[in-house]
Amino acid sequence: LAQDNTFKIGLILPMTGQQATTGRQIEAAARLYMAQNGDTVAGKKIQLIVKDDTSLPDATRRLAQELVVNDKVNVLAGFGITPSALATAPIATQSKTPMVVMAAATSSITQASPYIVRTSFTLPQASVALADWAPKNGIKKVVTLVSDYGPGIDAEKYFKERLIFNGGQVTEALRVPLRGPDFAPFLQKVRDAKPDALFVFVPSGAGAAVMKQFAERGLDKAGIKLIGTGDVTDDDQLNDMGDVAVGVVTSHHYSAAHPSAMNKKFVEAFSKANKGLRPNFMAVGGYDGMRVIYEALKTSKGQGGGDALLAGMKGQIFESPRGKMFIDAQTRDVVQDIYLRKVEKKDGQLYNVEFDVIKDVKDPGKAK
Ligand code: DHB
Repeated sequence: LAQDNTFKIGLILPMTGQQATTGRQIEAAARLYMAQNGDTVAGKKIQLIVKDDTSLPDATRRLAQELVVNDKVNVLAGFGITPSALATAPIATQSKTPMVVMAAATSSITQASPYIVRTSFTLPQASVALADWAPKNGIKKVVTLVSDYGPGIDAEKYFKERLIFNGGQVTEALRVPLRGPDFAPFLQKVRDAKPDALFVFVPSGAGAAVMKQFAERGLDKAGIKLIGTGDVTDDDQLNDMGDVAVGVVTSHHYSAAHPSAMNKKFVEAFSKANKGLRPNFMAVGGYDGMRVIYEALKTSKGQGGGDALLAGMKGQIFESPRGKMFIDAQTRDVVQDIYLRKVEKKDGQLYNVEFDVIKDVKDPGKAK
């Protein structure tokens, strides 16, 4: 550990490349949290060290190793995609360094190391709520389209299981590559299959391309509804998606339009500090991740040792801009409300407007 009075947070994010919006959102949110809450906690000076892993897991692992060995960071944080989080888990375990996952959302991540705590969400958590909503709203036959890796496979599986349980069916399950996806041929297949709805999971940053192709292939005109987890109507991009997005129903843990006093303040402050940028669900994961770290440092009275910090992270319950949230002490995963939202235009701006809520949702993946 650092001999001096600093407390170091190694924040590894994709700042360039396909997932760069995730890095930009999380870094901005972490800096906002520090600006609002000061950079001295329990007598320690907080130092944020940001590293760009370009979303390549080999780079994430190498940077994590350097941060632990050379910089002697007290906490590792960030992790834009699942493969980056999984690649780093053994380093967290070996070095007993708490690892706060602020973005990646495959259910199994928290089981990869006892030092992982998550402040984002899980795809099973978000998907199940939509599979309960759909059949009650005229959607029985669904084609699923997901990015072909951890979170997409979780979304596909948990959405399908629950839809079948509710009397619906998935007529086809399509998977697109994570890197450089071309959605057009898949969407043509969906158009020909004419399901009631297309369920989509793509990672943050890819939603606008799906939306554009969906409209260009005329799926909306063919009466096929687009539904998905809230990743597809990502607040980082939503406003530029155009009218094709209006009416799209998604389920997720965060909307920039969440009508609480705390969220209004958060959105305003974030936007002001970042040239009008709207915070998305990645930003809120970063903001709350910093909260979890700050409070753990306070309860461990500034010791900064891995096990003491971890103990201070487990069981935290607090109000986030997303609503109430909780770090389950057993699973170290986030328990939170999941909202059903519909894209609406308000004063010329597109928003995910919440219309229903399922309270205190645990990750369904942990029960298996
Ligand atoms: C993951 C990445 C995302 O951008 C997202 O929206 C959900 C999950 C992931 O890789 O785990």
